Amino acid sequence: MSSDPSVSSTPRGKFITLEGIDGAGKSSHVRWLGDFLRTRGHEVLLTREPGGTPLGEKLRASLLSEAMHPETEALLMFAVRREHVAAVIAPALARGEWVVCDRFSDASFAYQGGGKGVDRRRLQALENWVHGEGASQPCMPDLTLLFDVPCEVARQRIVLAGRPLDRFEQEDAQFHDRVRHAYLEQARKHPERFHVLNGELSLAEVRARLVHIFTGLA
Ligand code: TYD
Repeated sequence: MSSDPSVSSTPRGKFITLEGIDGAGKSSHVRWLGDFLRTRGHEVLLTREPGGTPLGEKLRASLLSEAMHPETEALLMFAVRREHVAAVIAPALARGEWVVCDRFSDASFAYQGGGKGVDRRRLQALENWVHGEGASQPCMPDLTLLFDVPCEVARQRIVLAGRPLDRFEQEDAQFHDRVRHAYLEQARKHPERFHVLNGELSLAEVRARLVHIFTGLA
């Protein structure tokens, strides 16, 4: 049997990513979405970024706590992603599994690009490299759910949660506003895969919307 995923006869699974500013509510939906997709008969792998591999989880701890140059941060985010794609995401998709990933490359455009001002062209070059542009199966999300809320609402939720804030959550309101707008810009650039959801709706309303979206995805 060939070990090259590109010659496998199993249909490739779907790659779904969830995005949004801190406090937008995406984390409340990841597990539910995984269970929902399983009830529809799919094998589902839930994962997250930064992280998703033993090496990535170690680097996540540094990324969320240690000050560093914005370009170092961008390079590390994509280095973690390279490992995640190679070791976890691409093999799961090749086995026909549906991969649900809590944040992916759009987060780098939003946080390191919009939030910290890293040049978009550099981020694009890293994305092309890490996603495997030009390969038979580049690792691009099939569908991206963007949970969008005003920054004040997100901030209130984070404060109410009462847990210690990581390095990104400690950034000011202007930073989160830039991140939010960079996300919306990504959604405008890639309308074929983005669904923007109003993160102020109730859990039940968001779930109904998700059911509708996934009913349209074969
Ligand atoms: P997050 O999903 O918010 O973790 P948690 O739900 O446990 O708080 O992700 C951690 C942070 O990492 C988040 O503030 C955004 C940041 N991040 C980037 O800045 N760039 C990236 O490319 C990724 C994937 C995440």
